[in-house]
Amino acid sequence: MTVNYTLLTRQLEALVEDEADLLANSANLVGLLFAEIPDINWLGIYVLRGSELVLGPFQGKPACVRIPLGQGVCGTAAQRMESQLVEDVSTFSGHITCDPASVSEVVVPLISAGQVIGVLDVDSPLQGRFSADDQHGLESLCERFVQLLETKRADLQNFI
Ligand code: SME
Repeated sequence: MTVNYTLLTRQLEALVEDEADLLANSANLVGLLFAEIPDINWLGIYVLRGSELVLGPFQGKPACVRIPLGQGVCGTAAQRMESQLVEDVSTFSGHITCDPASVSEVVVPLISAGQVIGVLDVDSPLQGRFSADDQHGLESLCERFVQLLETKRADLQNFI
């Protein structure tokens, strides 16, 4: 099923633009996407603290709290500053299993002022759930989200 990421981005703008609190805005980003993207079992933000990603707002089962940079799909996306689209996590060397129900995933780095500040991780119980359209739609949405946060606070390291 295709997701209208342009519409989701407009909805995100409406949720975030009048609120200065970055934790509340991050929680609403997660709530919006989890409600609107079908066939997913986990969606959340990890924030970069030093050389580790630390669990932030999410929807789904309790998850791994700390992921070192360079490890797992999330740590790889953060270290390379490139989103990762994984059709079957069993084929991704070093994948970190939090919920064994997760089979495919897409992870998008959140980048501000040329630095990674965190990642958005979206997991699905279906193999090959995410297309290049999902990846690019989520990349644009995350880029817009960071832009919106930048209007509220200049330095977004440890933004939540
Ligand atoms: N799948 C991730 C770990 C995070 S959980 O899925 C929530 C990874 O390998 O980076």
